[in-house]
Amino acid sequence: MSLLQDEFAHADGLRYLNHAAVAPWPKRATRAVQSFAEENWRLGARDYPDWLTVERRLRERLAKLLNAPTTADLALVKNTSEALSFVAFGLDWRAGDQVVISNQEFPSNRVVWEALKRYDVDTVQVSLDGSDPEGALLAACGPRTRLLSVSAVQYASGLRLDLQRLGKECRRRGVLFCVDAIQQLGALPFDAQAIDCAFAMADGHKWMLGPEGLGVFYCRIDLREQLKLHEYGWHMLEHPGDYERADWTPSRTARRFECGSPNMLGAMALEASLSLLEEVGMEQVAVALGERVQWLQEGLAKIPGTQLLSPLNPARRAGILSFRLDGWDNQTLFEQLRAKQVVCAQRGGGIRFSPHFYTEPRVIDETLALLRQMADA
Ligand SMILES: Cc1ncc(COP(=O)(O)O)c(C=O)c1O
Repeated sequence: MSLLQDEFAHADGLRYLNHAAVAPWPKRATRAVQSFAEENWRLGARDYPDWLTVERRLRERLAKLLNAPTTADLALVKNTSEALSFVAFGLDWRAGDQVVISNQEFPSNRVVWEALKRYDVDTVQVSLDGSDPEGALLAACGPRTRLLSVSAVQYASGLRLDLQRLGKECRRRGVLFCVDAIQQLGALPFDAQAIDCAFAMADGHKWMLGPEGLGVFYCRIDLREQLKLHEYGWHMLEHPGDYERADWTPSRTARRFECGSPNMLGAMALEASLSLLEEVGMEQVAVALGERVQWLQEGLAKIPGTQLLSPLNPARRAGILSFRLDGWDNQTLFEQLRAKQVVCAQRGGGIRFSPHFYTEPRVIDETLALLRQMADA
């Protein structure tokens, strides 16, 4: 049995095309959680130093995945929304400041900026519908713009932005560049330094194949101390184990954003999941995922009545492909697919498919065959 068949032994007949929502775990993450549970049952936290070793490894893997300069630039967080909130409520806003976002953002990357209204900070939404979405975003950045925040890949359309272009231009204009990376990290290579972002964040439960509730927050070193802190506790201190010490300062590293005890159970799983992505290599993951999305796209295009809602240019997408089928309302189509064991999502006025690098050809072929039957019915 090949490595991937062993790692992803889904239930018979399951067609899992929903990694843009919540991904299945690889076997090694499942085993890591099982053995962590067993250890807690039998030994409690006797070997806590070993757990810290796993947590350290997780930070190293995340630093590699993001190409962060060091692990000191990363904090482990609850999820993407928490990290976005650290940025939004950490910056020192002036009345009249402006935040630019796109009109396709997932609520996490919209609501958090709109919540700044109370400080007289305006949020401007820019349409990504034209032929130059980056140009449109940059054109909306004026003298009042303090920050541009976008998803690397849009959750519904799957549109992938040219982050390097945005980052470079933001730097030139003195605008902070914030990237919700959840739909890219683990699907395609990501390079926080090359794109020159100020902040990037993602939870682990999508393309990184981890559990919900453990994510990563990258904060560029020059901005670390500029973010006001709103969560305090023992773990975020410069000397976290020195419980008797009366004086304290926040950690000089991004651990300052981690107030208390870590999500060690999540760390066990995510560390294992990321070890698989590392073993395969992110370049290879991206190639294999691209092939699967292309195959789905070509198959869908041959089914009469399908309208693709995602970009056709492979350079403009990652792992998401959304479509509509003439004569079908999305809810009915979604329910029928679900009844046939096709796990997908309804997003952005269509059905969203999101395979991953390991998705077996069978899954794609069978799904396309089912859709064709439905279209012919
Ligand atoms: C672009 C984007 N951002 C954020 C999230 C989720 O945020 P969180 O990690 O806070 O649950 C999603 C989930 O679908 C998403 O697609």
